[in-house]
Amino acid sequence: MSTPYTTNNAGIAVESDEHSLTVSPDGPILLQDHYLIEKMAQFNRERVPERVVHAKGAGAYGVFEVTNDVSQFTKASLFQPGMRTEMLARFSTVAGEQGSPDTWRDPRGFALKFYTDVGNYDLVGNNTPIFFVRDTIKFQDFIRSQKRRPDNGLRDNDMQWDFWTLSPESAHMVTWLMGDRGVPKTYRHMNGYGSHTYMWINGAGTRHWVKYHFKTDQGIDFLTQAEADELAGCDPDVHRRDLWQAIDSGNAPSWTLYVQVMPFEDAADYRFNPFDLTKVWPHGDYPLIEVGRMTLNRNPEDYFIHIEQAAFEPANMVPGVGPSPDKMLLGRLFSYPDTHRYRIGPNYAQLPPNRPHVPVNSYAKDGPMRYEPSNTARPYAPNSYGGPAASPEAHQDIAGWRTAGEMVREAYTLHREDDDFGQPGTMVRQVLDDDARTRLVSNVSGHLKQGVTKPVLDRALQYWRNIDKKLGDRIAAEVNGL
Ligand code: NDP
Ligand code: HEM
Repeated sequence: MSTPYTTNNAGIAVESDEHSLTVSPDGPILLQDHYLIEKMAQFNRERVPERVVHAKGAGAYGVFEVTNDVSQFTKASLFQPGMRTEMLARFSTVAGEQGSPDTWRDPRGFALKFYTDVGNYDLVGNNTPIFFVRDTIKFQDFIRSQKRRPDNGLRDNDMQWDFWTLSPESAHMVTWLMGDRGVPKTYRHMNGYGSHTYMWINGAGTRHWVKYHFKTDQGIDFLTQAEADELAGCDPDVHRRDLWQAIDSGNAPSWTLYVQVMPFEDAADYRFNPFDLTKVWPHGDYPLIEVGRMTLNRNPEDYFIHIEQAAFEPANMVPGVGPSPDKMLLGRLFSYPDTHRYRIGPNYAQLPPNRPHVPVNSYAKDGPMRYEPSNTARPYAPNSYGGPAASPEAHQDIAGWRTAGEMVREAYTLHREDDDFGQPGTMVRQVLDDDARTRLVSNVSGHLKQGVTKPVLDRALQYWRNIDKKLGDRIAAEVNGL
């Protein structure tokens, strides 16, 4: 195969890949070396800002296939029997920057975009069914406590425990994070959860609350802290490489989707607040119902185009799916498109990973880097030139529940068994085995021994005793070197 010749961005052949245009071999560079200038200018603009969170990740395309009939719960077309929907997935760590090691202890993002026949459906979850805080107003503070200090630019365990212990609603998620699942062996060996409660609406208009669980078909597996630390040094991209290689070698990873379904009316009197993101719904109360399987079988041919510029947005919901009153979810509906406009630009939805696989008849117009022509003859609605007209029933599902009351700034109403330490205590006592508990003690005490100051440390030990007295005492003994 003959080597193609180099061109500039306008397709014009260039004379040299090695030498700039100069006056004599030792003389100054000339301004009319247009190719050199293009090269420097292009290079200076190669980066878009990294994601403010979830900056380091990996992704691939795939397909979602329905394996069970859940049409009694939702009319969403991608969940109907026989449906097969193309999709994109991106997995990520949360706090680390673009070049950070894949094996730092952190939740993992589990972001999915389904190119359905009625527009994009994005489900932007994590590998955890819960989260650290329950109100959007605390998310920015939480993230800043996990990232870098303004004075010295360093991450700081003291800052992390300071925030966590002052925010006891974090206890469930911190227990999870410090346990085995806080460092998955690979992205293929972790589950994904929608985490929030969502609403499903069936063809007759009946509403249910749902939680999504994507269980890995590869089996759950994890790295110990020592294994993770070693890999962070010798192979920081291990998870990105693993996903790419698995798919490249034909070993397509898959996940089976299950949902927990709660009748609409149960929510008001359920023992836990079913919309509180720091709580799970115990499986015994709402068992898992199979829905389908997602398989990732195609690597991106260009990482930047398809994965870096992928823009997931929880507000992309198709008919048959709607939000719940979860105060985190409702905040997220605004946040993602806002950050995409900043990070990628206002026409991000036209880029290959984000483009719906159905016609876009929006009245959006112009703006930086827009390249797809408008599908409307006149740029306003209503118009008498055959422009698109909204169908009133199309998005009935975004406004699916009734609410009334005074405007307040208050915590959720407590349900019978709501507290911050109950569910993590159950996890420690009933879900973990002895070895997993010992690793939890070691992970927590190892973390607390690195730069956590006395008052924060005292609060942290009490926090663990609140989760489980015996476990807290063991952590204290380890920290104090007893
Ligand atoms: P179950 O015994 O039915 O479920 C326990 C679940 O815990 C398992 O199904 C598994 O979730 C998950 N699990 C197992 N090992 C670990 C681990 N090392 N770290 C984190 N999660 C693990 O009990 P309940 O549903 O009554 O829940 C009991 C506790 O289990 C909860 O308080 C919560 O802390 C935790 N849990 C519950 C989940 C739920 O949605 N109900 C999901 C995950 C954890 P999976 O099957 O998803 O892998
Ligand atoms: C990424 C905001 C909570 C999962 C992001 C980004 C922002 C953000 C601004 C960067 C997006 C980008 O640049 O492309 C928020 C806010 C939250 C919140 C304001 C709380 C109110 C959550 C929760 C989850 C989650 C609870 C999981 C259940 C993700 C994932 C990504 C992400 C997976 C990466 C998406 C990708 O791969 O491109 N979040 N987030 N976030 N968030 Fe959140």
